[in-house]
Formats: sequence, C-alpha cells, structure tokens
Amino acid sequence: MEIKEKVLILDFGSQYTQLIARRIRELKVYSAIYPCFVEFDKIKDFSPCAIVLSGGPASVCEKDAPDVDDRIFDLGVPILGICYGMQLIAKKMGGEVVPSKDREYGRTKFFIAEKDPLWNGIEREEFTVWMSHGDRVLKLPYGFKTIGKSENVEFAAIVNPEKKIYGVQFHPEVSHTDFGNLILKNFLFDISSLSPSWTMSSFVDKEIEELKKKIGDHSVVCAISGGIDSTVVGILLNRAIGHRAHCFFVDNGLLRKNEAEEVVGYLKKYFDLNLHYIPAKEVFLSRLKGVTDPEQKRKIIGRTFIEIFEKEAKKIKNVKFLAQGTLYPDVIESTSYKGPSAVIKSHHNVGGLPEKMNLELIEPLRELFKDEVRKVARELGLPEFLIYRHPFPGPGLAIRILGEVTEERLGILREADEIVRQELVRSGWYNKVWQGFAVLLPIRTVGVMGDERTYEYVIAIRVVESEDAMTADWVRLPYELLSRMSNRIINEVKGVNRVVYDISSKPPSTIEWE
Ligand code: XMP
Repeated sequence: MEIKEKVLILDFGSQYTQLIARRIRELKVYSAIYPCFVEFDKIKDFSPCAIVLSGGPASVCEKDAPDVDDRIFDLGVPILGICYGMQLIAKKMGGEVVPSKDREYGRTKFFIAEKDPLWNGIEREEFTVWMSHGDRVLKLPYGFKTIGKSENVEFAAIVNPEKKIYGVQFHPEVSHTDFGNLILKNFLFDISSLSPSWTMSSFVDKEIEELKKKIGDHSVVCAISGGIDSTVVGILLNRAIGHRAHCFFVDNGLLRKNEAEEVVGYLKKYFDLNLHYIPAKEVFLSRLKGVTDPEQKRKIIGRTFIEIFEKEAKKIKNVKFLAQGTLYPDVIESTSYKGPSAVIKSHHNVGGLPEKMNLELIEPLRELFKDEVRKVARELGLPEFLIYRHPFPGPGLAIRILGEVTEERLGILREADEIVRQELVRSGWYNKVWQGFAVLLPIRTVGVMGDERTYEYVIAIRVVESEDAMTADWVRLPYELLSRMSNRIINEVKGVNRVVYDISSKPPSTIEWE
C-alpha cells in the first residue's frame, strides 16, 4: 500500500521543525522533512499534497538568507508558511519584509481580522499565540490579504485565497499557542482536503509489503538488544519473511537482572521469532578484565560484539541484508538544514557492520519517531513491560560500574538496580520518568552494621526526566521513596553500605556516569 496523502515540510532550521512533523502525524497525515535547499525534482518526486515552510533563525532581509525553489508555488498545492516561512513567502511573492523594532518573543495576543477556513471552529476573536521573530511583513504581495493581527504586527496571518497560500507569524505547532492543533487541522483537512488515514496499522501493513518485496527470497540478520526499536524491527521482519529473519541476541553478561531470560523467552514464545541466543559472557568479561577507562570499555564491547555478530551471521546461508532500528530523528539529523550533526552518536549504533560484511542495510523504522515506534509495538502486540522499559545503553552495566567490571560488582549492581526499578514501578513513578537506575562506585566507605564496622561500596541512584535524552533533569522523587530504596539496597544487597542520589542535570552532567 502506497501512502497517497503526504505533507512535505521544508526546513529552514527552526528548533520546532520536528515538532511540526509530529503534530501533523498525530493528526494522522504522513509528513516528512526535507532541507529547504533540496532539489526541486526531489520535491516533485515526493508529490506532496500540501507543503509547510518551517520557521528558522535567519532573517529574510539578510544577504544569502535560506531560500527555496520558486517552482513550489506553481505545484498547485496548498502552502503554509510559519514564521520565517511566512516572511519568505511575502518577500518572494512581491511583498516587503523589514526588521522590526519591537521583537516579539513568547506568548502574544492575536486577533482574528477576517473569517477564514484556517479559523474554523475557533469561536473567539482574540487568543494567545507563541511568537519568536524579529522581522515583520510591511507590505503584502499582490493577491494576499490579512486575516490576523497581533499587538505589534499588522500582518500576523495572511492568505492568498486563490492559490491557497497561507502564512502565520506565530507557531501553531507549539503547545503554548491556543488552538494551534486546530489551526493545523484546518489547514490539512479543510484547506488541503486531506483525510486522517496515516495510522500505525497502515504503516505496519505497508512496511511488511515493502520488506517482502525488497528482501525477496534472501535472508536477513539483525541484532536484538531487548530495547523496543530492535525488537520491533525483528517482529516486522518476522511478519514479512518468517524464519528467514535471523535475530541475534548476544548475552554479553552486562545486562540487567533477568533481562536475557525475559526478553528471549518472551519473543520466542509469543512471537515465534527465529531468535539465536548467543551466550558470550565469558568473552566479554575476560576482555574487560583490568580495564578501567570508559572509552576503552566501550571500544572493547563494541568490537567484541561485532566479532561475535559477524561470526554467527556467517553461519546463515543466503544473507543479503542487515536490519537496524534507525529512527527518523537520526535520519533528519544526517540530512538536516544544519548539515550532518557534529556529534554523531556512533556509539549508540552498531557502527561498522554493513561495510565490513558487504550487507545491504534495511531500516524499517527510519520514517518513525520514538512515540510512533511505541504505537507500532502496541499494534504488533508487544507487552507493556517491553514497550515502556527504560532505555538501556549498548555497553550495558559496564558503563554503570565505574572502574573495573567484575562478576562481583555486576552481581551487586544488578541487585541494587532491580530494587530501584521495583520501587519506581510500585510507586507509579516508573512510567513517568525517562530513566531510573543504579550506578556502582568503586570506592569503599566506612559504615556500621550491628556492632561491626563495614567497609563497602557506594551505590548512586540516578533518576531523570527528559524528552529525547539530549537534555535531562533529575527527578524530585519523594523523600519516602528515596528512603525506601536506600533502606532496601543497604539491607538486601550484600557489599553496599551507602546510597546517594544524583542531583545533577544534563548538561553539564550526562545521564550515564560511565
Ligand atoms: P548520556 O549518558 O550521553 O546518555 O547523557 C544519553 C542517553 O543515551 C543512552 N546511552 C546509550 N544508548 N548505546 C545506547 O544504545 C550507548 O552506548 C549509550 N550510551 C548512553 C543513555 O542511557 C541515555 O538514555
């Protein structure tokens, strides 16, 4: 099944561009982001039913300001320019844009100046919008009229009704804008005549068909970590080509308590995955022996993983593809307006595999955002405990044990971590936070238990909230909950006599301690 109704978002570098895409998808219309300078042929090939021009930090009054191919205005599809996008429309179509004396930033009063389909369902003439701009439109281009004003700006919403080209100076995608969703909805359904048909079940059907076609009668290998992305990839492949999808679960001995048994058992039993369980604890631990430097640990784990994966994959006949759980934000990041991101999170993926193994890459989730992957997971019947499991780093507990990783330390950390998890679940906090876990510090402090002095490890508890792990803040957990965690860890986990709570945010700290 091909997606027929698509919205193209052209990105001028706004921090909100991904949010526009998500909002549109939440309204069940497929949307994709291209950088504004993409060749016109690519835009035509995409065959959008509507186009959104995003905001951006530049000023259209500057020389070399980001631009877009004029021919998009002749495609005959409705266009909505947001902030910078609106100013660009005004300038390119013959209006005038000037730097404004009064910069508008934040919540601003907005007034509807004229009835229009964009305002369908809004029963007020005045509401609050989110603004962030320096320039303003001074003179409208021919064929345009104003349909909304703000306190400082005469032309805060404009339209060319004949061509269905709209511009709004505010950000409808931001939650601080009243009726923002309704305005986007009006643009999609009332103005562009689209229908809400992009759902996760339509995605699953389409993806399975495409995988079947692409893979033919070859085989595919993929690594399953137990995290939601790779698990969903494995299940989609399994639905498409059955047991020719070989999923490898490498047990590196650095997993959380019961993790390997739970994940492997569940996926085999309920999903009939062709799951190869590879016990490899000894290799990993022996190579990590004596290693204390965090980068070194990561490298050893990464290299060992690739080695094992390659060896196992070679045993499978007729393999042509390697599947990975790349998500849309990573795809956008590498083609974005700002260019490939300077900070490429190579350690978050299994880097180096496809080139070395001569395999073609398959990325079934490359169109999806994380929350959409969760919906797909639910559609596929994955249980909640897997869907809402907190993210877990590839190098596992090795980066949550500072200093050398030993069996003894792993055992201690696993027990402490399990208590943190249990208490978060029991108190209802687990699903409200981004991540919560324990870290083992390789120092010993003095304590007293009964009549005896003890000299044992410190456990740090780290619980953070975050949208996307780029920034994070520590969670203000109730004292009673922290106290319960601490008491249980000290009483139940042998080898620990002190517990501390990490109250640092990211940046400047990171989520993991390493
Ligand atoms: P930091 O510590 O950089 O972590 O603030 C940000 C998020 O990424 C996770 N993380 C990893 N995930 N492989 C992964 O798949 C890794 O090597 C890795 N290192 C950190 C971390 O748990 C947090 O959610």
